[in-house]
Amino acid sequence: MSVRIAPSVLSADFGRLAEDIARCVEGGADWIHVDVMDGRFVPNLTFGAKVIETLRRLTKLPLDVHLMVVEPEKYFDAFAAAGANVLTIHQEAAPHLHRQLHRIKELGCRAGAAINPSTPVDTLRDVARDLDLLLVMSVNPGFGGQKFIEGSVEKIAHARQLLTAAGSSAAIEVDGGVTRDTIAKCWRAGADTFVAGNAVFTAPDTAAEIRELRARCAEQA
Ligand code: DX5
Ligand code: ZN
Repeated sequence: MSVRIAPSVLSADFGRLAEDIARCVEGGADWIHVDVMDGRFVPNLTFGAKVIETLRRLTKLPLDVHLMVVEPEKYFDAFAAAGANVLTIHQEAAPHLHRQLHRIKELGCRAGAAINPSTPVDTLRDVARDLDLLLVMSVNPGFGGQKFIEGSVEKIAHARQLLTAAGSSAAIEVDGGVTRDTIAKCWRAGADTFVAGNAVFTAPDTAAEIRELRARCAEQA
């Protein structure tokens, strides 16, 4: 298992998006995390297909699109066409999760399911084999720069057990409050994909920060 670092563009400077993305690419980011919010599933509003298309032109890195929206299936076709590589939907917003995960795969994207801090990991048990990615939210979704919720570490461990029991090699992503101080315990618990917004974009040296986040995992391996 290797460490994957996914800077979240939510914390980028949108007036200098091209430069911020270039810094992530040159700095060794693995994926670019794209937070889509609709002001309904979460109390904040961000962006849609147009911005995904723009990001697609700025980088060849996989675009990891996190849909914090109700009725996520409405956006699958447009986001896939815009260049998304991973589409992750929330368990809480997807009553027909199995069907929707398969629809995402039909469109040629990797399919992910996310759970909020208050949602038990077990709610994903019956789709474990259908997942390419399981996203454990370590803050309540909606905003960047929040504090890591400690109980998330146990949830990551539980998620890894659940996937192993199901014979799934899906990635486990952790999103929210990931920093130099919180990343290693998530890695030890079984996460391999780390979203980092504030940590990466407020750092004076993007490459050094990405390197450091990765190194914190290696130290604890
Ligand atoms: C929160 C978003 C996150 C956010 C993470 O709702 O899903 O991806 O950008 O930001 P940080 O790393 O600053 O907590
Ligand atoms: Zn996110």
